[in-house]
Amino acid sequence: MDTNRQGWFSGGEADCGPEAPLPSRPARLVLLGPPGVGKGTQAKLLCQSLRACHLSTGDLLRSAKCDGASSPAMKQALAAMQRGELISDELVIDMVRERTQCLSCLGGFLLDGFPRTVRQAKALEEILFELDVELDAALSFELPLEQIVSRLGGRRTCARCQAVYHMSSHPPLAADVCDLCQGPLVQRDDDRPESIRVRMQVYERETEPLVDYYRQHGKLRRVSAAGDPQEILRRTLKQLGERRRTAARSARTSYLQSP
Ligand code: AP5
Repeated sequence: MDTNRQGWFSGGEADCGPEAPLPSRPARLVLLGPPGVGKGTQAKLLCQSLRACHLSTGDLLRSAKCDGASSPAMKQALAAMQRGELISDELVIDMVRERTQCLSCLGGFLLDGFPRTVRQAKALEEILFELDVELDAALSFELPLEQIVSRLGGRRTCARCQAVYHMSSHPPLAADVCDLCQGPLVQRDDDRPESIRVRMQVYERETEPLVDYYRQHGKLRRVSAAGDPQEILRRTLKQLGERRRTAARSARTSYLQSP
């Protein structure tokens, strides 16, 4: 399901093509964590396990830069990026609103990069409330800073299909060429040391408070992002399994206690 994100990239009305078998219970998750902790990598693995769709606002903005904007909000976001400005909360919220169909999809979703501020989190809550959709959990991936910096420094991304590699932990078969589409592998502008420092500061100031926000809402699940990707996946699925069992138990209890 991860490979066909037409609705996400082009706007909610776009056709996502042939339906993949739907999961019996859609997973609806927010992925949190500092830049480079491995959210995108885990999102891809989780999508395969849970048959949900990977919805990344970072991918959306990068694709608008490469292929042009496809909707009014994306056109404004592209113009802001071309002026060198950060994307405002209002614009990102509008971008996501244009794609509400992706959030109510029966396949479920893994939101990566959104929300990024408490304001965006409140907007997401409103959108989901309007759609009568409940968020299962916010997964917070955690890793010591020096390991994060090494993950970001070694990352290479395919300029054509956005596939992600790492020079030492996940190298391509041929140097600087994507295994999947043979596109050129490049270092993202924001993965250079001077940009990494700024991104970490922005993360601490604007995104870290979300951990507390979701903890207060009873949705937070902390996951150690140390080790290889499959090990982290197993840890995450275990956390989600426990959460689902607890939710099912409390639903059963309130049903039995109801008059
Ligand atoms: P975005 O793309 O969301 O960037 P990010 O949150 O900074 O996250 P990254 O993509 O950098 O890292 P990741 O955690 O996905 O790590 P990955 O799996 O690639 O956003 C980019 C920009 O867009 C933002 O800075 C902002 O300006 C703007 N933006 C986006 N959303 C916005 C919003 N809502 N509001 C406003 N602005 C917004 O892994 C990193 C590397 O490590 C890879 O090379 C990978 O191969 C390797 N790796 C992964 N896991 C492991 C492992 N277990 N062991 C060893 N190596 C690993």
